[in-house]
Amino acid sequence: MVTGIVLFGPPGAGKGTQSTLLKTKLSMAHISTGDLFRENMKKQTPLGLEARKYLDAGKLVPDSITIGMVEDVFKKLEGRSFVLDGFPRTAQQADALESLVKSNGFELKKAVFLDVPKGQLMGRLTGRRVCEKCGENYHIESKAPKQSGVCDKCGGKLIQRPDDREEVIATRLQAYEDSTKPLRDYYRQKGKYVEVNGVGETDDIFSRIQKAIS
Ligand code: AP5
Ligand code: MG
Repeated sequence: MVTGIVLFGPPGAGKGTQSTLLKTKLSMAHISTGDLFRENMKKQTPLGLEARKYLDAGKLVPDSITIGMVEDVFKKLEGRSFVLDGFPRTAQQADALESLVKSNGFELKKAVFLDVPKGQLMGRLTGRRVCEKCGENYHIESKAPKQSGVCDKCGGKLIQRPDDREEVIATRLQAYEDSTKPLRDYYRQKGKYVEVNGVGETDDIFSRIQKAIS
């Protein structure tokens, strides 16, 4: 049976970093709604043009658009287990996920909350750099590339995400507080909630996640 987990937490909690490890080490399909929106923006698809209005402002993309996109990705899983990074983010998305999981005959095993104190998030986000070519993630202090501004993996140019500016980050943090943080209770009530300390070395956090989902 296809099984999956939800990885959620505030902006900068390390969802993308840890999902990448789940993908490479456990061969899970990594479904990041943020990445999917950014890919569509790059290709200038109708979905991307619509999503840009929200991403650039740090606001949530409307539920109907986001849910439809995940629905499409679920059709292409081909039996792989999956990690959902950044979905669901609202109660409506969480309900839609329940239905989607059921109708596809999948099982959602756990919802893992990556716990990082608010005070650490701004520094993580403003210092993040991303390869515009391959999408690899860096941080100017905690995960600096060998050569400043250049991706270690593919030599691509490292850029700052437009929504990693301080004023946009504030809006993203507020959207998280208002809409996504309450999902902790949603998953507690379903008996699927697990909390993982998201502070420390990346590999240690990954071990904690592995333990939490096993
Ligand atoms: P999305 O791309 O998902 O952004 P986010 O949730 O704000 O999270 P981030 O990607 O910023 O952080 P992350 O938790 O992945 O951390 P990362 O590993 O990169 O969404 C962007 C936008 O898309 C939203 O604002 C919204 O508009 C839209 N959207 C997406 N999903 C949606 C949905 N479901 N509904 C509606 N709208 C949606 O790490 C961050 C930095 O910290 C990196 O530099 C990294 O190197 C560093 N770092 C990681 N781990 C550690 C560590 N252990 N110690 C120190 N530094 C660390
Ligand atoms: Mg991310």
